[in-house]
Amino acid sequence: MEFTFEHIVSLLRGGGEELFAEADRVRRLTVGDGIHLRGLIEYTNICHKNCLYCGIRRDSRVARYTLTDDQVIASVRYAVEQGFGSVVIQGGEICAEAHVEAIERIVRRISGMDGPAVVLSLGEQTAGTYRRWFDAGASRYLLRIESSDPALYARIHPADHSFDRRLEALRDLRRTGYEVGTGVMIGLPWQSVESLAHDLLFMRKFDIDMCGMGPYLECDGTPLASFAHETQGSQQWRGELTLRMIAILRLMMPDINIASTTALQAISPDMRLRGLSCGANVAMPNISPSELRANYVLYDNKPVGIDPRILEMARPNGVNPRGRSMRFMRRECNVI
Ligand code: 5AD
Ligand code: SF4
Repeated sequence: MEFTFEHIVSLLRGGGEELFAEADRVRRLTVGDGIHLRGLIEYTNICHKNCLYCGIRRDSRVARYTLTDDQVIASVRYAVEQGFGSVVIQGGEICAEAHVEAIERIVRRISGMDGPAVVLSLGEQTAGTYRRWFDAGASRYLLRIESSDPALYARIHPADHSFDRRLEALRDLRRTGYEVGTGVMIGLPWQSVESLAHDLLFMRKFDIDMCGMGPYLECDGTPLASFAHETQGSQQWRGELTLRMIAILRLMMPDINIASTTALQAISPDMRLRGLSCGANVAMPNISPSELRANYVLYDNKPVGIDPRILEMARPNGVNPRGRSMRFMRRECNVI
């Protein structure tokens, strides 16, 4: 089916059970029955950026931490024991050489374990840094565009953050050879349904391999939390809109990986589960050392712990045990 702008807008406004059932059917047909588990390791909450919505922005007064190499490796071992196909090392954006080296060293250690695929989510970096981490063994990278509308992007970021730079970073990642994931926040102040339709068209045009998107959730003390805006809707509504975004994207790009994010779970425990039955095929349980999780708060009510119902939905996948993006394999490797 050809998804035009008008069609997407109408589905975003009115899509219901029929849309969800069709997305679930297409998900099973194209990327398989079982969902993929990706262990999330929150490596550091230090960040040099100051995004107006984020709880670990530079100006936030939170206790900062960085995991030791051994703490990361212990989490990876746990992921291996649990049978997870990949691990994500996520952290704030830091460009200092010591940080670049630390990640390089850790990625190299994980690759040497013959363990899960290494996914990075560490913000905008130079093409040279992306290359170093790729050469060390990282194969996937998540960098959300947050909003594909440059005007909205400018309103939710300080003046020294650049939309064009973000786009360039996504292109650098693609050129380096990563499986590239992006995504947006849903229900931001000043964001319209039309803008979200453009976000979906942007993802298709960029031909992304993976997507992670979730509702925007106010985080107390951040500049954006003080904007209660009428276009934003309740958190429940933002969650429902997120489910429609997931379902429509599954139909537009049947063979990509789509995550059902923790932010959905923060609205209600069932929301993330619903994401997995309306198009999403990846869940990212948090496997960071538990004593530090309380400090990695991007938004309020961030859930902790692995939902046992999600573990049950993950069936061993003999064909694609590490949960690679089928879209990537088709494009880059000419297989399947
Ligand atoms: N609400 C929802 N998502 C958020 N993120 C950061 N702050 C918030 C928030 N208040 C998301 C951003 C970022 C990812 C790591 O977390 O999309 O890319
Ligand atoms: Fe830093 Fe990412 Fe938060 Fe922005 S969203 S402040 S880059 S951790």
